[in-house]
Order: sequence, then structure tokens, then C-alpha cells
Amino acid sequence: MLRLQPGRLFHSNLGKVQHDELIDLPYGTTVFSHLGHSMLLLEPSLDDLMTRIKRNTQIIFPKDAAMILRRLNLRAGSRVIEAGTGSGALTIALAWAVAPGGRVYSYEIREDHLLVARSNLEKIGLLKYVELHSASILEGFEQNNVDALVLDLRTPWVFLEQAHRALRPGGFFVSLVPTTNQVSELLQGLEKMGFADISVEEVLVRAYKPVPDRLRPDDTMVGHTVFVISARPIVDREDPGRWLSDERKRFEARRILEEKISEEESKRVSQPSDKKRSRPKLP
Ligand SMILES: C[S@@+](CC[C@H](N)C(=O)[O-])C[C@H]1O[C@@H](n2cnc3c(N)ncnc32)[C@H](O)[C@@H]1O
Repeated sequence: MLRLQPGRLFHSNLGKVQHDELIDLPYGTTVFSHLGHSMLLLEPSLDDLMTRIKRNTQIIFPKDAAMILRRLNLRAGSRVIEAGTGSGALTIALAWAVAPGGRVYSYEIREDHLLVARSNLEKIGLLKYVELHSASILEGFEQNNVDALVLDLRTPWVFLEQAHRALRPGGFFVSLVPTTNQVSELLQGLEKMGFADISVEEVLVRAYKPVPDRLRPDDTMVGHTVFVISARPIVDREDPGRWLSDERKRFEARRILEEKISEEESKRVSQPSDKKRSRPKLP
């Protein structure tokens, strides 16, 4: 990626090009280096902006960002909270989605990460849509009634109460974690803390070699990155169990019954009797 400036020279292994030769050319134009190599002038895409930044943390991949934006239900004008900022890759996608009328409130505990994220956002002109907070989210968020909230840090289940308080009724919650153990812990937390409509998803993208007469998938693809867990806050948190999925309710009923059976069996072993007892049917 290149910011065009009058009088500057672009160097590459294919040769040099004067910025002045590129300024005012339409995107999609073929240009030539001083060695005669051809280059295509293209506008950077959101993928380019996210993946070509300076990184000092793991970043969210564009394939996952697309799903995250969808699950956060973002549009121009939305207000969204994010933690942690990390290198700012996801912040870029969030700012891209909510601009020009919306706002991203991004929290980061490490000052060094925040500095890198700030410079990444500034370079690509998206900092004006982002409010960076140097703070741990353990203390909660300064904003409330936000449309959406996303947690990309190692222990999201620790911060669910803070997240619930910051979201508007009917808001959208998303969290990203790489391992199934973390997903299980987060699911248990979401069930307890008053979230409903919970989903767990993974995004696998299989690209094809675009050869019309020999169309076939690429030989390699990006494997696992993160799980995307989405949920909606419940206003009346008295009976959060009511909104568990049918599958989850069946599993809970079965677990309770199995516990009862095993209790009865251990009683029977300690007090043997001649009478035959029938086992209740499992749901
Ligand atoms: C995996 S990185 C986030 C990457 C980011 N989504 C991106 O795409 O560049 C996780 C970040 O969360 C930050 N973090 C961890 N605990 C935090 C807390 N309690 N409050 C705020 N930030 C925290 C870490 O310092 C780290 O920078």
C-alpha cells in the first residue's frame, strides 16, 4: 500500500515509479516501472487495510471479520464497543462499517498495543471514527446503551456482567476465542449472565483457482482461526434458563435424571431389597 505524495519515488524489486506518474490516474490502470515491468494500480480493499498493518498481537482475519460484522448487525451510524484493541485489525473493520455517523469505543489494557493500533488507524484515515481507551475492562465501560459489543481477549467470560450493562436492550454481543475449552467456559457464562439466542460458528473459506476450463479448489486453505460466539442480552434476567435452546434443555433434563438414577442406585446398593425396580426412561 502506498500513500501518493508529489515528488516521491516508489521502489520495488520490479523497478521504480514516480508518484507523480500515478497521481490522478484512475484505479485499474496498468503502469510501468523504469525497468519496463507492468503493475496494476488498485484501490486498497478492507482485506488489504486489515492485513497490511503493523502487528504486535494476533489479529482477526478478514474472513472472520465479515461474520463478526454480520453478527454485530453493524451499519453506518452504529455505536460499538470493542476490547481488546490489540493491533487494531478488527477496529479497522468496525470503523469501516459504522462510518461516517457511527463510533467505535475500543479498550486496551496495554499502552504499547494501543500505540501501534493508534498509528495503524491514523495511517489509513479511520482514527476519526474511533475512541481509544487505555484501560482494563474489568472496571466496566464508560459508554452505555451501545448497539453492539465485541470481546477479543483470552477470558471473555470474566467480563460478561460489564458487557451486559453496556449494551442496549436488544443489542448484539460477539466474542472470539480460539479453543473449544474457552467456548465451553463462555457458553456457561452466557447462560448464567442473562444472554439468549446463543450461537457458535466457525468460518471456513475455500477459494477456487479461477480457470474457466479447469475450475478446482486451491491446494491450500486457512485452517482454524477462531470460533465466533454470538448472543443477545435479556432484559429480564430472572429466568435465563427459559431461553436456552431445545437441545440444551433436553441435555439438562437428561443430566438431572441421570443424577437422580445414580443417587437411587447407590441407595439400593447400600440397602439391598428383593423388589425389582424399574429404571425411568431417559428423555
Ligand atoms: C488477541 S488481541 C486482540 C486483537 C485485535 N482484535 C486485532 O484484530 O488486532 C487481545 C488484546 O486484548 C488485550 N486485553 C487483555 N485483557 C484486557 C482487559 N482486561 N482490558 C482491555 N484489554 C485487554 C490484550 O492486551 C491484547 O492486546
